[in-house]
Amino acid sequence: MRDGNGTPYHYRVVRHFTVATVVGGVVGMLVGVWIAAQLAWPALNFNLPWLSFGRLRPLHTNAVIFAFGGCALIGTSLYVVQRTCETRLAFPRLAAFVFWGYQAVIVLAAITLPLGFTSTKEYAELEWPIDILLAVVWVAYAVVFFATIARRRTSHIYVANWFYGAFIITIALLHIVNSAAIPVSLTKSYSAYGGAIDAMVQWWYGHNAVGFFLTAGFLGMMYYYVPVQAQRPIYSYRLSIVHFWALIAVYMWAGPHHLHYSSLPDWAQSVGMVVSIVLLAPSWGGMINGVMTLSGAWHKLRTDPIIRFLIVALSFYGMSTFEGPMMSIKTVNALSHNTDWTIGHVHSGALGWVAMITFGAVYVMTPRLFDRRRMFSVGWINVHFWLSTIGTVLYIAAMWVSGIMQGLMWRAVNDDGTLTYNFIQELSERQPFYIVRLLGGVIFLAGTLLMAVNVWRTVRGDRDDNGDLNVLREAA
Ligand code: HEM
Ligand code: HEM
Repeated sequence: MRDGNGTPYHYRVVRHFTVATVVGGVVGMLVGVWIAAQLAWPALNFNLPWLSFGRLRPLHTNAVIFAFGGCALIGTSLYVVQRTCETRLAFPRLAAFVFWGYQAVIVLAAITLPLGFTSTKEYAELEWPIDILLAVVWVAYAVVFFATIARRRTSHIYVANWFYGAFIITIALLHIVNSAAIPVSLTKSYSAYGGAIDAMVQWWYGHNAVGFFLTAGFLGMMYYYVPVQAQRPIYSYRLSIVHFWALIAVYMWAGPHHLHYSSLPDWAQSVGMVVSIVLLAPSWGGMINGVMTLSGAWHKLRTDPIIRFLIVALSFYGMSTFEGPMMSIKTVNALSHNTDWTIGHVHSGALGWVAMITFGAVYVMTPRLFDRRRMFSVGWINVHFWLSTIGTVLYIAAMWVSGIMQGLMWRAVNDDGTLTYNFIQELSERQPFYIVRLLGGVIFLAGTLLMAVNVWRTVRGDRDDNGDLNVLREAA
């Protein structure tokens, strides 16, 4: 049984997800740039409710996390599981359902969020009918993935699949528990939980969405694409297993660090803080394992822009997982919470780690999926790399300075105990940093657009940089 393009694997659904990743990235980042501009110049709301920041912000987060990140994770997992298990995908029709069902969820999100339908739970804003559809799609995805593992031709299960597997099981659990709600109409429901318990369940979900969606899944990606592109085995298989179990065991308990100084019991906040600090070790285990895979082949960083994407992604992963534990210390959080510092932390993980490792994976995978010799333009990949790096640095540096200034201005008091600055004074000080962040975002988006054109021209089979015919064999 051969795929349409003559490979022994089933690539059709992976191709679909790869294209959807690129589209999701462009759209999600475009909305990100738009809301960044709104924060600098609020008049860009145009007094239209569906263009207001409050509605477009969840559109941005849902698009970048679930459309861009989610399609990248599902697509790469279905590619990696076939390659590492040396077998074709189980249930290709069910896999097609996963693709179309998931796209339906994305389209419904893009319609309902600007219209203002929301459960108000961060990263879980979608209303109950869409939640149910997503749960069904996710279970189908799990069936396809684990059935493919079950029919593997290899004796062991390669570590990338462990990470993808943990991501798939945990997201199902988180989504179903956190979305439990009592519907009052087709478009409105109320959480099944009340008060502080609701907050705890939400941030158990929210933090593990970071831990399993934005981390474990992307580590699965890292464990396949870094060794493939470096053409070297992973640095330490033992380390990968140890840090896998440590990560899984620890992440689950860190959620309360989002609820410091809240009505959550104090002991729970302290547990969240301690566990978050411990989390530094397994996180860095993954980073070190990835980076050290390049040992003996460092020269590739000079010549291969795809390796550069993958390794710089790991560096940002290391940086954000150092920063996160620091921010979870209560006294540090007293300064950082609710400020732009959090936004800087989020985007050092989101742009530096999640997006960059995805770009690397897309560049490795696209020529193989479409039977091309290489990407249409390697020069463009290099330009994209620099646009992404400069964009990320501008974004996060602006937010760090702005956030720390914000926290310090909020806590400044005069000798008589009154506040030194009022809210508007503090807000207007932040505007220049919002403009720098916008600039960083525009540069980052420009790089993503360049990748979209590069992918498009690779898929079309246009002659490459050197004028060579970019076709490996004729598509059947
Ligand atoms: C061109 C790139 C991007 C730009 C310009 C951008 C811009 C923004 C802006 C302006 C906000 C709102 C900040 C606030 O409320 O003060 C935001 C929030 C957020 N963005 Fe992005 N973003 C970009 C890419 C991404 C990507 C690729 C991801 C994830 C993979 C991401 C994840 C998030 C998350 C999770 C939040 C919510 C943060 C929080 O609640 O603390 N963004 N983004
Ligand atoms: C060891 C790893 C990490 C720890 C301990 C950690 C810790 C934290 C802490 C303490 C906050 C601030 C909570 C608050 O004051 O409200 C936070 C926010 C956040 N972090 Fe991390 N972080 C880690 C890694 C990451 C990574 C790798 C990413 C992204 C890829 C990420 C994404 C986020 C997001 C999206 C938020 C904002 C949540 C919200 O309020 O909407 N974190 N993290």
